Amino acid sequence: MDFEDYVKKDSQFYMHTYARLPVLFVKGKGCTLWDIDGKSYLDFVSGLGVASIGHCHPVIVEAVKKQVEELMHVSNLFYTIPQVELAEKLIDVSFGDKCFFANSGAEANEGVVKLARKYSKTFLGEDKYEIITALRSFHGRTMKMLAATGQPEKQKPFEPMPIGFKHVPLNDLDVLKEAITDKTCAIMLEPIQGEGGVYPCGLEYLQGVRNFCNEEGLLLILDEVQTGIGRTGKMFAYEHYGIEPDIMSLAKGLGGGVPIGAIIARDEVAKAFEPGDHGSTFGGGPVACAAAFAALKVIEDEELVKNSYQMGNLIEEKLQELSKSFPIKDLRGKGLMIGIELEGEMAKEIVSKCLNEGLIINNIGKKIIRFLPPLCITEEDVNKAINIFKGALLN
Ligand SMILES: Cc1ncc(COP(=O)(O)O)c(C=O)c1O
Repeated sequence: MDFEDYVKKDSQFYMHTYARLPVLFVKGKGCTLWDIDGKSYLDFVSGLGVASIGHCHPVIVEAVKKQVEELMHVSNLFYTIPQVELAEKLIDVSFGDKCFFANSGAEANEGVVKLARKYSKTFLGEDKYEIITALRSFHGRTMKMLAATGQPEKQKPFEPMPIGFKHVPLNDLDVLKEAITDKTCAIMLEPIQGEGGVYPCGLEYLQGVRNFCNEEGLLLILDEVQTGIGRTGKMFAYEHYGIEPDIMSLAKGLGGGVPIGAIIARDEVAKAFEPGDHGSTFGGGPVACAAAFAALKVIEDEELVKNSYQMGNLIEEKLQELSKSFPIKDLRGKGLMIGIELEGEMAKEIVSKCLNEGLIINNIGKKIIRFLPPLCITEEDVNKAINIFKGALLN
């Protein structure tokens, strides 16, 4: 079977929810992927922010192998060592006191919303359920997370939406304050909007939101599914803002390539969940937890958060230079979460040209290019990627 045969079978047997690019990957190592014909690619998207420590890191491979041989699954009615160890580790590196494990970002966010509602209804009043999110936000593809996502065009085909979410423009504190009602229980934001086009919360804005939540007794929820685990040059993006949320969701880079999501909360909030309130058959399973524990160890041992910060600065410098002679309208993001807004509608074409030259980047709509490289990229990788990107801008 060759590439064409697999494409034919894919089109016959797999639902067409993705506009696929014409490559079939069979192998990954570090920042490199190989296609079915043996061509290599420098990965500057990490499978959408997942392969943060690089593809098939030997420490993860070993941890998964060992766990698979020992214990693959037991129900959450029992204790397991990998789950306890990962929980302790995540609490150690974050603001939180308690965590819960899910299987994906959307599923973690579902749990986050349930926790915010249960806490507010229990301690603040039965009618407090509404959550304010931002326009252009992205929180996942389940029905409730689609309702939380501030992109009406994504909701339209699936209406009616579940109730309980209201959307406001990002970075306008006055409008946010006006949107609050007696029913509001929380404000939920991505510190940097990812899928919406790499739009960061302003420093004063997020600090203002934190203060406002304190004054009004509202919960601040940060969706760090994309920004978390070193992506932005800090372990968590909230650290850039000198604030802490009450609840946070994680996924993507958490598992070193293995699916896992997490909810992290302060004790006072977490205590709202009682046995029977929330659960997941697979969430917090031994293999995913062992992988995530190993991934966090790699991030520490290889100082990948520092590398994310340094390589992020290097890329920004080089893009600033490029923007002097190419039609780049805006550069946004932090660390290794980078958005490049182009003057013209050529983002897709540039992604395609780069792919031909062996560089994987991503477009958001017609004008925005996104880089989300593994946190372990080197200066040599950056130079190579920028050269290919420059070449694509040139012709
Ligand atoms: C900020 C944010 N939240 C939630 C999600 C949904 O995560 P998942 O695709 O793992 O459900 C994403 C995915 O891109 C995301 O970027």
